[in-house]
Amino acid sequence: MPFYQRLGEVPRKRHVQFRDNGTLLTEEVMGLEGFTGNESILYHLQSPCRVMELGPFEPIERREWVPEAHGHRHFKTFDTAPAGDEIGGRRLLMWNDDVEISLCRPSGSMEYFFRNGEGDEVVFVHEGSGTLETIFGELSYKEGDYVVIPRGTTYRFRPDGPQRYLVFETPGLIEIPRRYRNQYGQIVEGAPYYHRDIHPPTELHTVRERGEFPVKVRVRGGYQTYIVDYHPFDVVGWDGYLFPWTFSIHDFEPITGRIHQPPPSHQTFQGRNFVICSFCPRKLDFDPMAVPIPYHHSNLQSEEMIYYVSGNFGSRKGVEVGSITLHPSGLPHGPQPGLAEKSIGLHETHELAVMCDTFHPLKLSTFAQELDDGKYWNSWYANADVESDAGLTSHL
Ligand SMILES: [Fe+2]
Repeated sequence: MPFYQRLGEVPRKRHVQFRDNGTLLTEEVMGLEGFTGNESILYHLQSPCRVMELGPFEPIERREWVPEAHGHRHFKTFDTAPAGDEIGGRRLLMWNDDVEISLCRPSGSMEYFFRNGEGDEVVFVHEGSGTLETIFGELSYKEGDYVVIPRGTTYRFRPDGPQRYLVFETPGLIEIPRRYRNQYGQIVEGAPYYHRDIHPPTELHTVRERGEFPVKVRVRGGYQTYIVDYHPFDVVGWDGYLFPWTFSIHDFEPITGRIHQPPPSHQTFQGRNFVICSFCPRKLDFDPMAVPIPYHHSNLQSEEMIYYVSGNFGSRKGVEVGSITLHPSGLPHGPQPGLAEKSIGLHETHELAVMCDTFHPLKLSTFAQELDDGKYWNSWYANADVESDAGLTSHL
């Protein structure tokens, strides 16, 4: 995060004595790029290295589905049954070396602490609210939030009610797009959000508790569990540029124009060889000759995955809340038959969707296979002579 935060107590200078009731606290520098990237400095009651017991290592097993034919896909995720917790219940849909995309509808909550040791995470909260308890303090979240969790953050979810997440995990970094920031890191005028829209942890509760606490760490292609003898949330204060935060999709300010604006205008985050975009309710193109829905496009160097959150998705027959369309590379796609004509004169859209474009091909899981409607590839042809009376979306 390109701004400085501080919560709790920290000493006057870094790397000097700092005590709690006379006991020297343990200073931890948590940073990127070998002491030259963004970092935060945390002060613990106990050394975070005090592992009592090395628990089991559970390798992550991905079951790949290799379709017999290459085509556009439509996955219906809404009726997926709740299972697992907020980590173990992540059900992988598609992945490559840069990003893994999962659906999560937990049926229970975490009985352990979790840390992604080698990757950043974005949890899009489609349904539900709650608190993400972290070593940096408490981060409340609600429907429509992107919860951005940098690697190294120990956390656990404390949900209120049923939850539905779309989860992105990446070995790279999740960043605010470079073009939204000036040379000092401040978000520039014209960017679709500002620092005030970014919400860091607000309360730090230092837990003074000895015991046996399991911490599950994603590392080396699996989950390693450690048992530590002190509560992981023993931080009395921290400061720096590295911390978890939330950004609401409802705070994304759409960029509109006289004629069609391309998908990069919806970009919300940049990752390593992928982007995450937000399609939000907005006014549509206002030139009298404008065609308010997009031109057909061949995404020759990217795969385009769209998760439909709410609104009217009628320009994709059969697409509903929780649907995912995947337009893989090598193929053109666009609005379905009749809809370009029908869109003329439309002034606004109420769609809400999250898109992830990857620069490299995505693999599909057997879970995705279960959700595949098996006919989307054919929908432009099958409906070619149909006068669609469906509603419209503007970005597809
Ligand atoms: Fe597209």
